[in-house]
Amino acid sequence: MLGHSTFRLADGVYWVGSRDWSRRLFDSLIPLPKGTSYNSYLIVGDGGEALIDTVNPGFELELEEKLRGLTDPGGISYIVMNHAEPDHAGAIPHMLKIASKAKLVTTSQGASMAQALYRVQPDRVMVVRDGEAVNLGGKTLRFIEAPMLHWPETMFTYLEEEGILFSCDFFGSHLAGGLYSDEVEDLLVHARRYWGEIMMPFRAMAQRALQRVEKLDVRLIAPSHGPVHRHPKQILEAYRRWAGGETRRKVTVVYVSMWGSTELMVKRAVETLEAENVEVAVHNLEVADVGEAVADLVDSRAIVLGAPTVLGGAHPIAFHIAHLVGSLRPPAKFALLLGSYGWGGGAVKQLGKTLEGLKLEVVGSVEVKGSPTAEDLKRVAEAAEALAEKVRREA
Ligand code: FEO
Repeated sequence: MLGHSTFRLADGVYWVGSRDWSRRLFDSLIPLPKGTSYNSYLIVGDGGEALIDTVNPGFELELEEKLRGLTDPGGISYIVMNHAEPDHAGAIPHMLKIASKAKLVTTSQGASMAQALYRVQPDRVMVVRDGEAVNLGGKTLRFIEAPMLHWPETMFTYLEEEGILFSCDFFGSHLAGGLYSDEVEDLLVHARRYWGEIMMPFRAMAQRALQRVEKLDVRLIAPSHGPVHRHPKQILEAYRRWAGGETRRKVTVVYVSMWGSTELMVKRAVETLEAENVEVAVHNLEVADVGEAVADLVDSRAIVLGAPTVLGGAHPIAFHIAHLVGSLRPPAKFALLLGSYGWGGGAVKQLGKTLEGLKLEVVGSVEVKGSPTAEDLKRVAEAAEALAEKVRREA
């Protein structure tokens, strides 16, 4: 395991988290090409100490060692659980043992989750409501409920004297490296991907949270994944755009092809869209990093899905991505569906049905038997032209 260092972020505020350089998958779903970090923070006041969030299971002893380098964990008064997901709360049972007098501070829903997930007994829990605070002596921690960012129990913690917002998953990025976001050259690339994977389904809640954050004097944002934002303007502006569903003249194309027929149709659609001055991001699902496709969906105005039929339905890889898109609720307004089959169709119909909940306008759908003819490809081009027209008009 690399590095057991701690970092001082402000007077009495220390990063004591862990960097997971080797992790490549999150929630058994999300690829992590750059690993991730589990940021935990120690706050030292004149009259008490608090730990904000913990670390992923397996990193408990690293957290303990870091804390012992700064304080006696037995003297910690509060362990703040902003969020109950195990990547931040998995070390809570260990921490409650070594911080034997500490109370677990969480929302009422968090208390129930702490019991269910970590068997934390009620006498160790201090439930806080929105706007309540604890004072550590010159360090006031104010709690702000932030439901669904990322789970219903989630809250932020705001350190008033220093203007530090501990936002847990919100404003995060899956990066093992980099303490400060201004030291990461392509921070927004990673933050956008993370937004798409984690926060995009909750845009309305994100907008509400951003309105509340704007009322605070936030000088530093300390999320629980990835670098700390000591110049919060950049990430705040990006979150305003993404939460607002701002899109560009851009189409994300995701497809899979078995024998090249669907791919021919996709190529014709892509060439047509590009000729119509529309930005196109193409992902062949056979080799694609799904996280990159999701990142492109964050600001795309339309989606093109292409898949052959396998046993009466869409190819399972395409069905998986269609289901994922339906769950992540990107802001796209238009779609084009393409498919091919050898002896029985059905892919396009199934893809359309899977996306029904998104209320996308399906501008065109083309499904062909066998290899597409010149006439078939003309139909694809016409459908892509109609899509380009919609995408441009929406600007
Ligand atoms: Fe990083 Fe929702 O946990």
